Amino acid sequence: MQTKRSTIDRLHPEAELINEGAEWLKAGELVAFPTETVYGLGANALDASACAKIFEAKGRPQDNPLIVHVCNRVMANNLVESWTSEAELCVQHFWPGPLTLILPKTALVPDIVTAGLVNVAIRMPSHPVALRLIEDAGFPIAAPSANLSGKPSPTRGSHVWRDMKGKIPLILDAGACEVGLESTVLDVSGGVPTILRPGGITKEQLEEVLGEVRADTPSENQAPKAPGMKYRHYAPQGELLLVSGLRDRVVQRMGQEILRGQARLKKVGVLCTLESASLLHNWFPDLLFVLGSKDRPQEVASNIFEGLRLCDERRMDLILVEGIEEAGLGSAVMNRLEKAAGKRTQHI
Ligand code: TXA
Ligand code: MG
Repeated sequence: MQTKRSTIDRLHPEAELINEGAEWLKAGELVAFPTETVYGLGANALDASACAKIFEAKGRPQDNPLIVHVCNRVMANNLVESWTSEAELCVQHFWPGPLTLILPKTALVPDIVTAGLVNVAIRMPSHPVALRLIEDAGFPIAAPSANLSGKPSPTRGSHVWRDMKGKIPLILDAGACEVGLESTVLDVSGGVPTILRPGGITKEQLEEVLGEVRADTPSENQAPKAPGMKYRHYAPQGELLLVSGLRDRVVQRMGQEILRGQARLKKVGVLCTLESASLLHNWFPDLLFVLGSKDRPQEVASNIFEGLRLCDERRMDLILVEGIEEAGLGSAVMNRLEKAAGKRTQHI
């Protein structure tokens, strides 16, 4: 299949491009589009065979359900059986935005979308292109992140192009995504609201509005409540080592790892904070990518997937990543890095 990549204005999306996207969706095809978090791979959420194409294009396991994107409350009401008071508060405070709510589904939502679960994941994105596309299509859009399954999420049109070229008819490219990390997935179907995946809206922000909020931390032999969280995700091709702790020690350890890796003829890439960059530069890694200041986790969040993907593009064999403080958006950043690193995490 021939893939067209069209540049679209982020704030004032061109009507004819939106219309072209909506027409493909109506025809049961897939369209990649920007959201404020990451790019989505969209299909008509009410059309089971269109949604099946998403799993095929991504190589996604069938047991991993999809998030349904809406552009207004009426559309959301058609998909949700009943709203809890916590869900209502979330809508008031955080929609449109990077928060996905887990709520009981109506019969309108095909089983393939929820992977057979009784609850549906639903969110109203704030990106003008996403909102306009849903509005023009006139139906909700099911969309996972537009990467090949297991790869880092796409935060630039170029990332989607790399993973989806030849598989879908259209990519709407509005440049870099603002948040750069996926939405927070929050179960508000009953009981204490529980974070199934940390993301763009922080636990602290949720607590301010909802009071008590839990994090789903399944033990070794328990399955996470968001099926997607059980997979090793966000992984670049190269081996990844995540190092966090006191900065001097982190720099020292990363320096040693650079030397050790290069002695074994490995190309070593480094993703680090602005504060550590000049120190790490002295160890001559093959690639040095600055994620942003340690005091601005938002900056780090928006660059993390770009950094991981760049390491793949430049064929780094070993990728050393400096961790940041696990507070606010830093928790979501560390969640993604820990998943990407598998068990190779060092706290020193
Ligand atoms: O920011 C985002 O959320 C992006 C943009 C495109 O909206 N989407 C995204 O989708 O990250 P995806 O498919 O990559 O991740 C969705 C996560 C997975 O971990 C999935 O298991 C979980 O949400 N999820 C989806 N439906 C669920 C459900 N009914 N119950 C529990 N977890 C669900
Ligand atoms: Mg994903």
